[in-house]
Amino acid sequence: MDRPQPSSPILLFDSGVGGLSVLAALREVLPQAPVIYAADIAGLPYGTKTEAEVAARVCGLLGRMAERFHPRLICIACNTASTIALGMVREVLEIPIVGTVPAIKPAAAITRSGTIGLLGTEATVRQRYVDDLEARFGNGHVLLRQAAPGLVEAAEAKLRGAPADPAAIAQSVAALRGQPGGEAIDTVVLACTHFPLLRDELAAELGAGVTLVDGAEGIARRIAALTEGQAFARDRADRAITTGSIEDFRALAPAFARHGIGDLAAF
Ligand code: DGL
Repeated sequence: MDRPQPSSPILLFDSGVGGLSVLAALREVLPQAPVIYAADIAGLPYGTKTEAEVAARVCGLLGRMAERFHPRLICIACNTASTIALGMVREVLEIPIVGTVPAIKPAAAITRSGTIGLLGTEATVRQRYVDDLEARFGNGHVLLRQAAPGLVEAAEAKLRGAPADPAAIAQSVAALRGQPGGEAIDTVVLACTHFPLLRDELAAELGAGVTLVDGAEGIARRIAALTEGQAFARDRADRAITTGSIEDFRALAPAFARHGIGDLAAF
């Protein structure tokens, strides 16, 4: 690929607002990088869809977005989309693609009890990709996976200014803890980019002895490494685009503004 223009954006893609947890980490390492935040709100949630549905949406949308915006790099800031479609997207697009996959490796280095919990979407927890990560990096520890679709909705609501539903938090944590051996969990992988947006609520519910781990900082470092030496010019507020209704999207304006995004548009 030719050297990107300084104004060429990094495109962050998620089904909804989850990718903002990745954007926050990216701003720490690359504050000057222009960003387009793409939310497939018309397809939200991904976690209850089939593999074929997620793959078709993600490949189709990213192809069109790459043509329209010429990003220097795409980050699939969504575990569900990454664990299903990362390989396919890399095959069809010629720009660097960074995925978001469950942070099992760092969790395995942290746990002292040897029991790790993993909260993700229904689709993520059943992926072979996660089986492979567990086999390669789980270090022989017990990994208890729990689908927590209510947390996606709670995070979406929270960023639209509503309180995060305490019942959804309590129910997800109780289901994880209620698995055989679940009382020994001392480390929890937040394997959905929406969940770090509920970090305080989840930490309070899980209790003081539990460490929460997500992949955002590692992803930001990876993006910085892949764009090292490139020039960046972020001379205006960044843009967020939605595949859904622009009226609904405007309810997220304050949350986007907190992440340096001031221009909301329909895709
Ligand atoms: N943020 C997405 C993830 O990381 C999932 C949310 C959804 O179900 O669409 O998996």
